[in-house]
Amino acid sequence: MADRQITHASEEDIRNETLMIWVNGRVVPKAEATVSVYDSGFMLGDGVWEGLRLYDGRWSFLDEHMDRLFEAAKAIDLDIGLDRAGVVAALEQTRAANDMTTDAHARLMVTRGVKTRPFQHPALSRQGPTIVIIMEHSTPKIARPVRLATVPHLRGLPMTQDPKLNSHSKLNCILACIAAEKAGADEALMLDIHGFVNTTNACNFFIVRKGAVWTSTGDYCMNGITRQKVIDLCRANDIPVFERNFSLVDTYGADEAFLTGTFGAQTPVSEIDGRQIGDGRMGPVTQRLRALYKALVTP
Ligand SMILES: Cc1ncc(COP(=O)(O)O)c(C=O)c1O
Repeated sequence: MADRQITHASEEDIRNETLMIWVNGRVVPKAEATVSVYDSGFMLGDGVWEGLRLYDGRWSFLDEHMDRLFEAAKAIDLDIGLDRAGVVAALEQTRAANDMTTDAHARLMVTRGVKTRPFQHPALSRQGPTIVIIMEHSTPKIARPVRLATVPHLRGLPMTQDPKLNSHSKLNCILACIAAEKAGADEALMLDIHGFVNTTNACNFFIVRKGAVWTSTGDYCMNGITRQKVIDLCRANDIPVFERNFSLVDTYGADEAFLTGTFGAQTPVSEIDGRQIGDGRMGPVTQRLRALYKALVTP
């Protein structure tokens, strides 16, 4: 599609061609950074990950990211093999190897590791986890506010691959994204099992109605760190904020809509299912929250 806009778009940066990547304790050039074809992550999507950002020499919300990583690993019964200090040291090693100080994004991935045979049973993963950190120079750049399309793929109940898990198996979200693209949109707006508006395939979702900020109850979606920071910022700055159920009727009629995520912070939405949201441009509440969030990550 000629007018394609992905929510994780960033400025071209030639330095990203020659990155150093952390693979199981070694920092190696991008071209040599590989994992086994027997890896549990490659074979089965059996792993968890975190996306983090570095601004002005500081990892944003590092404690929250470490909490979520270790919680997810525990939930899938995966021993990361490093304690929190060890994971942070690995991030720092990657940062230093790439001489990065700001505007960088890290994807930290932990899988159940190399399997002895190519089958599902976790007991076949006997060699310890595979840990990889890809860190890129990354300044988000979107040419225009994003367009969303509602898709048939739902955010499920927690007993079916809890949507709170940042797992390597993203197929439900990927199918949602494909459906949205085929409908001419950039990203998918996903409903929960009751039909309430929940989240997008890769970001959390907010609307603004009459000066108040609404987001889903938090059930069925990723417990996004940026989502929580936006809620906290609203509360600290006397912006009414509600975590509640709402429908597509409320959503189409919103004055503003935006997405949140570590990568893009707050990304404006111009259109949902062919309905223009507000005047189709970034609205004043979204602008204000972006400024407040920027001040939070770059004090
Ligand atoms: C499905 C989904 N929703 C939302 C988010 C945003 O979460 P955060 O704000 O912690 O980056 C992510 C990021 O990992 C995600 O995968």
